[in-house]
Amino acid sequence: MRKLALYGCGGFAREVLMLLEDMGLGDRVAALYESDDIWTERVVAGIATQPISRFDPATTELVLAVGTPQARRKMRSSLPKQTRYPTLVHPDARIHRSSSVGEGSIVCAGSIVTCDVIIGQQVNLNLATIVGHDSRLGDFVTTAPSVNISGNCLLGAGSYFGTNSCLREKVSVAADVIVGMGAVVVGDLAEAGGVYIGNPARLKPIG
Ligand SMILES: CC(C)(COP(=O)(O)OP(=O)(O)OC[C@H]1O[C@@H](n2cnc3c(N)ncnc32)[C@H](O)[C@@H]1OP(=O)(O)O)[C@@H](O)C(=O)NCCC(=O)NCCS
Repeated sequence: MRKLALYGCGGFAREVLMLLEDMGLGDRVAALYESDDIWTERVVAGIATQPISRFDPATTELVLAVGTPQARRKMRSSLPKQTRYPTLVHPDARIHRSSSVGEGSIVCAGSIVTCDVIIGQQVNLNLATIVGHDSRLGDFVTTAPSVNISGNCLLGAGSYFGTNSCLREKVSVAADVIVGMGAVVVGDLAEAGGVYIGNPARLKPIG
């Protein structure tokens, strides 16, 4: 059985370790990696940190364990093509059999993905995220805890949803959008990379 390692040594990485323990995979974790330029030799949650240049894709599968979608995208583009990324679904999450979850995605405890949902690669659904029927989540989409996505939503690659935000049905969100905590999204969020806040969610002025 191949070993597991995490790319990331911060708070979300420790939460992913907790998820792996709950999945009965805690003893397969061999290392926590970080990029060579910021690496310092230390022990995090009982596991030695390593610079990513020591990662060997032939022996180890890698979990991208950071919360920012753009950081995960950058990490993946810097890793060897043959790297394998496990898909992690907490035993207390529920995903209907008609839905699919892409490679490297992480679905945390308490999340529910209902029917005919397509979730891309390297998506993170944090604790208690709800995804309604027929929604499509692009690669690297990320939710904070308790996000509620209604049915038939289209979430662009790299979009991020803050804690307790919610989306009306049939809403489209452009790539790399950030939705603030508690935002109520009632219509399309069309500006790629835009930050939207409030109820109803509006584009936040820059600066
Ligand atoms: C929306 C967000 C990205 C803005 O971050 P930022 O650009 O650093 O914003 P600031 O903290 O400088 O605040 C700027 C203004 O926006 C307001 N603001 C910030 N977040 C807000 C939110 N979610 N809803 C309403 N207003 C918000 C602030 O009160 C401030 O208003 P002011 O200019 O009148 O004083 C951030 O506040 C947010 O909600 N992030 C999600 C956090 C999250 O869910 N974390 C979970 C981790 S697991």
